[in-house]
Amino acid sequence: MVMKLVLLGPPGAGKGTQAQEISRRLNIPHISTGDMFRAAVAAGTPLGLQAKAFMDAGKLVPDEVTIGIVRERLQAEDCAPGFLLDGFPRTLPQAQALDGILAERGIELDAVLDLEVPREELLKRLTGRRVCKSCGATFHLLFNPPRDRDRCDHCGGKLIQRDDDREETVSRRLDVYEEQTAPLVEYYRRQGKLKTINGNQDIPRVLEAIGEALGENWR
Ligand code: AP5
Ligand code: MG
Ligand code: ZN
Repeated sequence: MVMKLVLLGPPGAGKGTQAQEISRRLNIPHISTGDMFRAAVAAGTPLGLQAKAFMDAGKLVPDEVTIGIVRERLQAEDCAPGFLLDGFPRTLPQAQALDGILAERGIELDAVLDLEVPREELLKRLTGRRVCKSCGATFHLLFNPPRDRDRCDHCGGKLIQRDDDREETVSRRLDVYEEQTAPLVEYYRRQGKLKTINGNQDIPRVLEAIGEALGENWR
């Protein structure tokens, strides 16, 4: 069965890291609103100009903007069989809008994977993160080190630190998560879709836990 999935969890929980592998194995598109906003910022589009100030401040981009880009993305043909949302929804209005978008098409989410990681660990993960400017691959200076400190293992692109991974912004993002996104755990628990994953283990073990949670749908 092809799946319609959401990855939930605080900044640094490992959503992007796990999404790469889940998307490859299940052959479904990985849709990260954070990546879409960063691409828009890099391209200097109106959307990027609008999103940048919120992102740099560690705040959420307004719901109507975010819901609009996801609605459009989900209309693309590659999403018809299934998709993996990473970093969306992040507020109650976004979750309700997503339910509405899917209901219009007579479909619903199969599961919401909630990656749980303690705050001290998140701080270490975010401050040591490096991302490839060319292909977006994610590394960590200590936990998932690239072979060469400033070059991507996959494509040789330059590794950079995300603008919002500076320490002041990181703690702001974690607070915003607690206030605005954490309530979604209860929302999806009530829908019977929540799968809680221990994200505080090494990368392959987290993937295994996700596989166990998805049961027979995993391959
Ligand atoms: P977004 O890009 O979504 O950032 P985020 O949610 O803050 O999450 P991150 O990407 O920081 O963490 P991750 O869980 O993907 O972790 P990763 O796998 O990289 O959003 C950025 C901004 O865009 C937001 O602040 C907001 O402004 C805006 N935005 C986006 N979506 C929005 C929405 N829906 N509504 C409104 N605004 C929105 O891993 C982190 C590090 O840890 C890496 O270095 C990795 O190598 C390492 N690592 C991963 N797993 C492990 C492990 N198991 N053990 C050790 N290290 C690990
Ligand atoms: Mg991410
Ligand atoms: Zn690369």
